[in-house]
Amino acid sequence: MNQKIYVAGHRGMVGSAIVRNLKAKGFSNIVTRTHAELDLTNQAAVKLFFEQEKPGQVYLAAAKVGGIHANNTYPAEFIYQNLMMEANIIHQAFANGVRRLLFLGSSCIYPKLAPQPMSEAALLTGTLESTNEPYAIAKIAGIKLCESYNRQYGQSHGIDYRSVMPTNLYGPGDNYHPENSHVIPALIRRFHEAKVSHAPEVVIWGTGTPRREFLYVDDMAAASVFVMDLDKAIYDQHTQPMQSHINVGFGSDVTIAELAGAIAKATGYQGKIGFDPSKPDGAPRKWMDSSRLIQLGWKAAVGLERGLQKAYEEFQSQ
Ligand SMILES: NC(=O)c1ccc[n+]([C@@H]2O[C@H](COP(=O)([O-])OP(=O)(O)OC[C@H]3O[C@@H](n4cnc5c(N)ncnc54)[C@H](OP(=O)(O)O)[C@@H]3O)[C@@H](O)[C@H]2O)c1
Repeated sequence: MNQKIYVAGHRGMVGSAIVRNLKAKGFSNIVTRTHAELDLTNQAAVKLFFEQEKPGQVYLAAAKVGGIHANNTYPAEFIYQNLMMEANIIHQAFANGVRRLLFLGSSCIYPKLAPQPMSEAALLTGTLESTNEPYAIAKIAGIKLCESYNRQYGQSHGIDYRSVMPTNLYGPGDNYHPENSHVIPALIRRFHEAKVSHAPEVVIWGTGTPRREFLYVDDMAAASVFVMDLDKAIYDQHTQPMQSHINVGFGSDVTIAELAGAIAKATGYQGKIGFDPSKPDGAPRKWMDSSRLIQLGWKAAVGLERGLQKAYEEFQSQ
């Protein structure tokens, strides 16, 4: 690939992992801009950037992301900023001759009560989880932007815009904020602090029985590059024009109790692990059906134990 590769959101958890992956493969033609240098919600600025840089490939890993609290408090910002970034980048990619683009979505695009594991076919079959509905609608719009540009301009302009939907990710670049972080970074911090203070017990919200799926972020980056580079005929064989997205999961899930045990081991915490069943559990199970990707020939390489060790090393180095 001699043309420039633009990674939008290269300082983020996923974008930085994609840059690591591409650099490890020997690519030196990667184009990036920080948020301060290029506000992707600014249509004129995005237009100018694409006209000047003329990338050949685009990874769209920039997004406004946040937890339940942020999604509930700032729903307008979540839907507006994500729609604008996607529309600006996808349209300017098209207008400036980008033939391949990969859009990163999220498993929240699927209905709240989607059958488990959630397959690509579950999209738009039911009501979304209300807490992050505006964010999910923006992500669904991103998939549909890619598909609509392919359908209208695929033949005439040779464009091929694809989407991947990751499960929960963890690893380098994660947010370890004490109140505002996902389950793995939050538990890494809690178990680490419990180890340092010799706390006899770490109590976890809920019963510990819900099952969740986790993927190491470098595996996500590897899957992104894999899907981006798939031959068009093969991609088309495994997708449909109006159901073109591909799930990226680890392939199996664990209970929260198993996860807590694995994090205790990774951090070296030797006290007791308790559960508080008076606190809410959330959905009993959430995992992706990744069979489409597996059939295409990709599989996760980093298991939970090794991934957690690496994540803990990174946490300690901060
Ligand atoms: N992390 C996960 O567990 C997970 C799971 C499933 C799906 N995903 C998906 O993966 C994608 C990336 O997520 P992530 O975890 O890597 O998020 P992240 O760490 O927050 O990174 C997002 C990046 O986008 C940039 N950005 C946001 N608004 C921008 C704007 N207006 N202009 C320019 N840059 C902007 C951010 O820059 P600033 O920080 O400077 O604003 C940041 O570098 C998202 O679509 C997300 O839904 C993530």
